[in-house]
Amino acid sequence: MAAYEFETHEYDVVVVGAGGAGLRATLGMAEQGLRTACISKVFPTRSHTVAAQGGIAASLGNMGPDSWQWHLYDTVKGSDWLGDTDAMEYLAREAPKAVYELEHYGVPFSRTEEGKIYQRPFGGHTTEFGEGPPVQRTCAAADRTGHAILHTLYGQSLKEKAEFFIEYFAIDLIMSDDGVCQGVVAWKLDDGTMHVFSAKTVVLATGGYGRAYFSATSAHTCTGDGGGMVARAGLPLQDMEFVQFHPTGIYGSGCLITEGARGEGGYLTNSEGERFMERYAPTYKDLASRDVVSRCMTIEIREGRGVGPNKDHIHLHLNHLPPETLAERLPGISESARIFAGVDLTKEPIPVLPTVHYNMGGIPTNYWGEALNPTKKNPDAIVPGLMAVGEAGCASVHGANRLGSNSLIDLVVFGRAAAIRAGETVNPNEANPTPNRASIEKCLDRFDGLRHASGSVATAELRLEMQKTMQADAAVFRTDKTLAEGVDKMTAVAGKMDDIKVTDRSLVWNSDLMETLELTNLMPNALATIVSAEARKESRGAHAHEDHPNRDDKVWRKHSISHVDGNKVKLSYRPVHLEPLTRHEDGGIDPKKIAPKARVY
Ligand code: FUM
Repeated sequence: MAAYEFETHEYDVVVVGAGGAGLRATLGMAEQGLRTACISKVFPTRSHTVAAQGGIAASLGNMGPDSWQWHLYDTVKGSDWLGDTDAMEYLAREAPKAVYELEHYGVPFSRTEEGKIYQRPFGGHTTEFGEGPPVQRTCAAADRTGHAILHTLYGQSLKEKAEFFIEYFAIDLIMSDDGVCQGVVAWKLDDGTMHVFSAKTVVLATGGYGRAYFSATSAHTCTGDGGGMVARAGLPLQDMEFVQFHPTGIYGSGCLITEGARGEGGYLTNSEGERFMERYAPTYKDLASRDVVSRCMTIEIREGRGVGPNKDHIHLHLNHLPPETLAERLPGISESARIFAGVDLTKEPIPVLPTVHYNMGGIPTNYWGEALNPTKKNPDAIVPGLMAVGEAGCASVHGANRLGSNSLIDLVVFGRAAAIRAGETVNPNEANPTPNRASIEKCLDRFDGLRHASGSVATAELRLEMQKTMQADAAVFRTDKTLAEGVDKMTAVAGKMDDIKVTDRSLVWNSDLMETLELTNLMPNALATIVSAEARKESRGAHAHEDHPNRDDKVWRKHSISHVDGNKVKLSYRPVHLEPLTRHEDGGIDPKKIAPKARVY
């Protein structure tokens, strides 16, 4: 066993990650008097939620009629009928409450003339069960909504005496021999010390794994750390083949231009100056759902109608909008367009390209955030002591495609739900079990092995190989050939982890070692993505398969489950939850409304 001393900390709940979901869970736990620690590898207000721009979906009805049943319908359709109906109902039904709570905590939302929370249109959000005009459902704080939420939740969590362990890197879960999660082991980055956090419940809120791709809107910290820890604990990942490309990443840098830009009246054109979305989505046009818009842009480029000298991107126009609207509603992207594209958006279009933005898949959970380890006998079996929320989790509310602004609401609704559930299941008067020594030792041995790794492949080199492979072979459009090649390449790339080279052996601010640990997390996420994509012989949501262009509900309306071990992935499937929580006669949605049908916008 590697000789590392460690300090032990004992809490009722340990939350790993301090983005929107982690902070909402932390706050909810602390408010109930649970001894709560939040561990984060970055300062909380630098978590990736800070980059969320356009807003948070909730059927407040401030700008016109709306209902949670319409929001549920749009989410089901957006998910291309792969989301779990109970979780999607929970999201849509609880969303207004969760947003009003944010308002009362102090989130500085933009306001209407009457002082209500301002709401803008976003893609795929409609009225009258998809029969009416677009709805204004996305509550916004200008185009810095994530920033506003993150700062507010951090302040409130401090007020409730949650304890923060900042710039601590969580290495692995501590699991008992009978499969109970008992805590995490973490490395303190600024002094090199090791820490064992014992907990009755661990909440993984570690975000997505966008950095498995070469070009992503995600921060460099989005390395799928929770998914990596779960895979190493022998637990599964779900629906990993579904990766969202946001239509409007800035060409070149990948920096996000919010969908709120199109919500405020922006539109896309090709090299002929044509508003091509009118052709593909006659009703909702530029406000069709993201997977649809990204595919249409890709088709335009592939058919030679891209803009620029290489005809390899698309134009987003905002220059027709009043400068006051741009200044008031979209100040952040005005700045991003200037810095990252050299464009004054009051005068010129922004060059944009579909860019990896969000992972629909993740750690399978129920709608309380409890992590699942499905078996044939019980596809909803829970992992005692473990929860996952936010982009790290898969409840599954987004199914095969997430609607814009359903992410921020997912963070707060399910962060809150996890806290409500922990309030019922965690007994603060009970002693914590002694953390499993063998599990701690296994984690420290792995850490030490990487610290002294003396192979021939540098971390940055291998990471780039992984990113290029994923970008090329698990793209907007996929084929049997590209996916099969991708599986072979990624299997080889993941195999090279055994030959990794770390040059810095120190323990203090060792970014070489931290990036290597992150790579060990990115790798199982990337591998599960390409393997489950290769296996799914249909097109659904973000998984656009050119050799199988139709959705096949008979065979494929099921969640894929990936167990990753080294560079091997074992696939199985679990059923989609089809039942809503509320019966139609009690005010719930009419099940006929959400029966599968062709998905047109
Ligand atoms: O376009 C955006 O503002 C992103 C929102 C989202 O991903 O939900």
